[in-house]
Amino acid sequence: MNQRERWATKMGLILAMAGNAIGLGNFWRFPYQLAKNGGGAFMIPYFISLLLLGIPLMWVEWVIGRYGGKYGHGTLGPMFYVMSRERLRPKSALIFGVIGGMLAFIITTLLNSYYIHVISWSVAYTAYSATGAYYGANTVEFFLSHVASLPAVVWSWLLVLVLLAICLAMGIVKGIERWNKVMMPTLYVVALILVVRSLTLGSPVKPEWSSLAGLEYIWKPDFDTLSKNFFTISLAAAGQIFFTLSLGMGILQNYASYLGKDDDIVASGLATTSLNEFAEVILGGSLAIPIAFAYLGPEQAIKGGVGLAYMSLPNVFISMGEVGRVFGTLWFFLLFLAGFTSAIAMYNYLISILEEDLGMKRKLASLMVFVIYFVLGLPVALDPDLVVLSELDNWVGSYVLVVLGLFDLIVGVWLFAPSRLWDEMHRGAFMRIPLFYKYVLMAVAPVFVMILLAGTTYEYYVGGVFAWSADWRVNLARVMILVMLVIGALETYFAIKKKYGEELAKNQKLIVVE
Ligand code: ALA
Repeated sequence: MNQRERWATKMGLILAMAGNAIGLGNFWRFPYQLAKNGGGAFMIPYFISLLLLGIPLMWVEWVIGRYGGKYGHGTLGPMFYVMSRERLRPKSALIFGVIGGMLAFIITTLLNSYYIHVISWSVAYTAYSATGAYYGANTVEFFLSHVASLPAVVWSWLLVLVLLAICLAMGIVKGIERWNKVMMPTLYVVALILVVRSLTLGSPVKPEWSSLAGLEYIWKPDFDTLSKNFFTISLAAAGQIFFTLSLGMGILQNYASYLGKDDDIVASGLATTSLNEFAEVILGGSLAIPIAFAYLGPEQAIKGGVGLAYMSLPNVFISMGEVGRVFGTLWFFLLFLAGFTSAIAMYNYLISILEEDLGMKRKLASLMVFVIYFVLGLPVALDPDLVVLSELDNWVGSYVLVVLGLFDLIVGVWLFAPSRLWDEMHRGAFMRIPLFYKYVLMAVAPVFVMILLAGTTYEYYVGGVFAWSADWRVNLARVMILVMLVIGALETYFAIKKKYGEELAKNQKLIVVE
C-alpha cells in the first residue's frame, strides 16, 4: 500500500477541519435561513439539531474517515465497504459502498461546481467594494449585471479555480494544511473587526433601527412563531446544521482519512464543531442581519433572502460613505476566505479518487480536477438567471446531504456495530463521551434524519420541486445530477472491485488491517 500523507500538526489538522466546515454556509446561508425562519424561532431547533444530530454525526464521520484511512482510502465508497463488511458479506457490503461513493461523488463534483461560482462573486465584489464600483448604482441591478457579464464572471471564476489548483497540487501538508493555517486565523481577525464595527453602529438611520435590535431578533426565543411553523422551521434548522458542518458530503471523512489510527477524534471533532459554531452564531450572527437591521430596517433585513449578502449589504456600505468601501472589502474578503477553504476540501476529495483509483500523481490530478470543475461550472457561468445553480442547490446542496447522512449512520453505527463504533471512537481519545450519546447515535440521530428526509421530501413534493419543468435549464441540471450519479456509481464499483476483487469473488472477508 502507498504511504499516505498525514496531517503534520494537531493545530494544522484542526484549522484545516475548521476551514472545511466554516464556509459560505456560515456567513451567507445562515443569516438568510435565520431571517426567513423567524430569527429567535429558528435558533431553538437549530441548537437541538446541533446537539442531537450535528455533534454525533461529526464523530461518526471522523471515525469512518480514520478507519478508511487505515486501509489506504480517502473516498467514501471503499470506506463504507470496509465498514459494512463487519456485519455483512462482501457482496452485500459492496452495495453500501457504491451508494456512499456515488452520493459523495455528486456532492463533490456538482455542489462545488456552483459553490466556486459563489466564491468568485465574493472575489469580484471584494474588488468592486475597494474601487467603489457599485456606489451610485442600484445594487440589485448591479448584481444581476455582474452575473450576466461573461468577462466579469469568467475572470473571477478562473482566478478561484487557479488558486485552488495551485493549493491542491501542493499536497496535504504543504497545500491544504499550510494554506488553512494562514487563511483561517485571517478569517477570524477579519470577522472580529467587522463584528466590532457592527455592534458599535448605534442607530445611524432611524432611532428604532439598530444592530442591537437585530441581535434581539436572533437571540430572543420565539416559541410562538416556532409553534405555528414548527415543521418548516425545524427542517430548515436541521438542514443548516448539515450544510454548515459539512456533514453528509464525504469531505470530513476524506480529511479524517489523513489521521493516524490512534489520533484523537472525540476532542478534535468537538473542537472543529466549536470553531464552526463560534464562526456561525457568534460572528456570522452578528454581521449580516444586525448590520442590515441598522441601515435598512427590520423589514428589509428579514426579507433580504438569498440576496442579503450580495444585493442588500452593498447598500449598507454605500450609506456608510467612503469608509464603507473598507468594510465592504473586508466583508467580501471574509466570504472569499470562508468559501475557499471549504472548496479546497471538495476539490481534494476528487483528487483522492484520481490518486487512489487511477494511480495519478497529485499535480496531474489537480489539473484534471480543474478541468472537471471548469466543464461542470460552465452551465452555471452561462446562466445569468441562476436557474441551474438553484436547481443544483435544491438537490445536491440540501437533499442529498441528508440522504448521505442517513447512510453514514446506517453504515458507521449499525453495520459496523454500535459497540465497535463506540470503541473505535474512543481509540486514542483524550476524553470520554457520555454514554447517553451512544443511544443518540443508535436511535435518536437515525430517527431524526429519517424524519428530516421524509419532511423534506414532502415539502419538495408540495412545493412542486419534483414536478416536470418546462424550463430546459432545470432539466439540464437534473440530467447533470443523473449523469454524475451513474459515473459515481460505476467509478466506485470498479474502485472497490479492483482492490477487493478476490474477497468479493469468494464473498468472504480476506483483507484486514489492524
Ligand atoms: N460547510 C461548508 C459551508 O458552510 C460547506 O459552507
